[in-house]
Amino acid sequence: MTLAIETNALTRRFGNLCAVDSLDLRVERSKFYGFLGPNGAGKSTTIKILTGLLAPTHGSMRILGETMDGSEKTLEIKRRIGVVPENLALFDNLRAREYLTFIGRMYLLPISTVRERCQELLTMMNLENEEKKLVIEYSHGMKKKLALAAALIPNPDLLFLDEPFEGVDAVSSRVSHRYGWLMAREPWHREIPGQRSGIQRLHS
Ligand SMILES: Nc1ncnc2c1ncn2[C@@H]1O[C@H](COP(=O)(O)OP(=O)(O)OP(=O)(O)O)[C@@H](O)[C@H]1O
Ligand SMILES: [Mg+2]
Repeated sequence: MTLAIETNALTRRFGNLCAVDSLDLRVERSKFYGFLGPNGAGKSTTIKILTGLLAPTHGSMRILGETMDGSEKTLEIKRRIGVVPENLALFDNLRAREYLTFIGRMYLLPISTVRERCQELLTMMNLENEEKKLVIEYSHGMKKKLALAAALIPNPDLLFLDEPFEGVDAVSSRVSHRYGWLMAREPWHREIPGQRSGIQRLHS
């Protein structure tokens, strides 16, 4: 069975600093994988490399069975990945539904699918009653939930979460967590049974 993530001696240096040192990682599909370590251990850097935001200095990786090397295939793989980054990059002057619609359209989803998923995710994240607010008016936890909803919009085969539940209330965390398990185990809109995977970076 192809692995969700496979890295070989993955290394990233910033000048003299080695942020990720020869990482060999194997993550099976349909699993939630927690990535623990103290501040500065290199967790976010690893996620940035695995999602194609940062190039490794050395080493190689395969994501969902494909080599991530900047080729045409890399873009295809990126379409199958969802990510909630450490530093949220939301648009302050949009409302949640507008933002999710924008992201859905960026993934080239049909508008009917985007509408359906927006509704489902806004309900799941308990953001339905905040519809009139702009993102700039959101609390930190609300922003975090919106970022998670945006990562789920494309119905990704692989989801990366950098500090997913930091600042999110207990009920929403539980709902999101349960949803993540469901997502890993069962198909949602696109029917590839038992293929989804998640990687979360949690604080130790
Ligand atoms: N763009 C950059 N330029 C220079 N150094 C960087 C850069 N990004 C990260 N680093 C360094 O790489 C190391 C790993 O950082 P990283 O953000 O991956 O850690 P982390 O495990 O996510 O930490 P935290 O728990 O604080 O989020 C740190 O020493 C950091 O200072
Ligand atoms: Mg980090």
